[in-house]
Amino acid sequence: MTHTEPAFAKLNLTLDILGKREDGYHNMRMVMQSIDLHDVVTVSTRETPGLTLTTDLPFLPRGDGNIAGKAAARFFQATGQCAPGLAIDIRKKIPVCAGMAGGSSDGAAVLRTLRRLCAPDMPQKELEEIGALVGSDVPYCVRGGTVLAEGRGEILTDLPPLPPCFLVVCKPACSVSTPELFGLVRSKRLRCHPYTAALLSALEQGDLEAAAHRFYNVFEDVLPARYSQVFELKGALLERGAMAASMTGSGPSVFGLFRDEEPARQAAEALAGSCQEVFLCRPVAREDVSSSFSF
Ligand code: C5P
Repeated sequence: MTHTEPAFAKLNLTLDILGKREDGYHNMRMVMQSIDLHDVVTVSTRETPGLTLTTDLPFLPRGDGNIAGKAAARFFQATGQCAPGLAIDIRKKIPVCAGMAGGSSDGAAVLRTLRRLCAPDMPQKELEEIGALVGSDVPYCVRGGTVLAEGRGEILTDLPPLPPCFLVVCKPACSVSTPELFGLVRSKRLRCHPYTAALLSALEQGDLEAAAHRFYNVFEDVLPARYSQVFELKGALLERGAMAASMTGSGPSVFGLFRDEEPARQAAEALAGSCQEVFLCRPVAREDVSSSFSF
């Protein structure tokens, strides 16, 4: 049996850190959004036991060292089923270490596929709980769409969808270490926090402009000076007409939100010369993540 599944990138419309926990993780409050930039994950069951993992990016880890391999191992531990031979192939489009949950999304696509192939009656909640054993962003990536993520990232509340818009996503050449950035956060000393409740009410009202004004990521406040390109890119996106611009996750990718396609396209073309990778994207709804929607 073979199944191919899109693994969508995510953007943080907001990212707030509420405090450090006793287990070393941080309590978060984040509004997450899936976008149509996606990897393609193919899972095949085979006669020969064991896991093989192939990808078109040679430097990514293989087998259990890859989050997609870890997801497969956790899935069969949780179901108690004897794991069949598995071949996982990942074609990458989402930049790596970029704040867009590329690895987590690949892991989530493996979980959705294994449920489809091996445990079709497994409830969504259980699949997300297995995701939480794989990584903090995986439960959200299993679900997708517009979601409020709290706790470590595993307490999920569905939100009304972001109104139709265009997102220009810029990935500079540098990469940021997520644990290092968390290490720089002193949550009690953060100067500003996103006004998450106001974003939720803007989404409730379907008001794109009011929503855009609430985008905010507290990691920007602790970003070391060597990542100045993040702020240059935000400025460039705003100069080119973005309604809002923000860093996603632990960066370094930055995105700008546009109501209309043409200005977004022009901004993407203008920034392509000064930024390593630039993508013109649209939001993806939850239904399109959980169905076998094929991009
Ligand atoms: O769960 P995951 O392996 O994706 O987390 C990577 C790292 O990010 C953790 O080791 C931890 O340093 C940090 N983290 C955190 N609080 C969270 C999520 C991640 O401190 N809620």
